Amino acid sequence: MTTVRTAIDADLEACAEIVRGLPEYFAPDVPEKLAADWPGCRNWVSVDGDEVVGLAVVEVRSPLVADILWAAVRKDRRDGGIGTGLVESVVAALADEGTRVVELKTLDERADYKPYEATRAFWRARGFIKIDTIDPYPPWPGSPCAIHVRPIG
Ligand SMILES: CC(C)(COP(=O)(O)OP(=O)(O)OC[C@H]1O[C@@H](n2cnc3c(N)ncnc32)[C@H](O)[C@@H]1OP(=O)(O)O)[C@@H](O)C(=O)NCCC(=O)NCCS
Repeated sequence: MTTVRTAIDADLEACAEIVRGLPEYFAPDVPEKLAADWPGCRNWVSVDGDEVVGLAVVEVRSPLVADILWAAVRKDRRDGGIGTGLVESVVAALADEGTRVVELKTLDERADYKPYEATRAFWRARGFIKIDTIDPYPPWPGSPCAIHVRPIG
């Protein structure tokens, strides 16, 4: 049984380990980027007992807009509803605080890279609507970016 709570700094290493365990999804420098983003973001984790099994790192852009920068579920726990529980908890917390739009960037279908088909299906099923493709997207050399938004609140 998993629950969602606000992350503490001591969770960062477990979150980095989750990311390292998903090399088909995250480049080797992502744990470093995650650590750099962490202090300036709102961070949540899914936990099963003492174990961190999911993470969401959210940059608050304005009182109305937040951006999910990083989200992942531990490889051996994917497709069991943990990501849905995490995203819905994060969205509910943000909506309570007055956020109206949540943004999400992911690999665009133009990349024709199979692992991200399930990722995009996940975000679509969670109410995120693709609004644009950015190609090239300078922060991700060689990888087109799909911008999604979910109106909330
Ligand atoms: C994306 C991710 C966070 C979702 O978390 P999760 O716990 O696996 O997802 P859930 O079990 O809550 O939901 C699964 C949903 O994903 C989608 N999905 C999963 N696998 C799928 C597949 N093979 N084909 C199509 N859709 C799929 C479905 O929409 C499914 O919804 P359903 O239960 O209504 O059918 C997680 O799988 C993950 O870490 N993926 C790798 C890293 C990643 O892509 N991160 C996001 C980067 S933008």
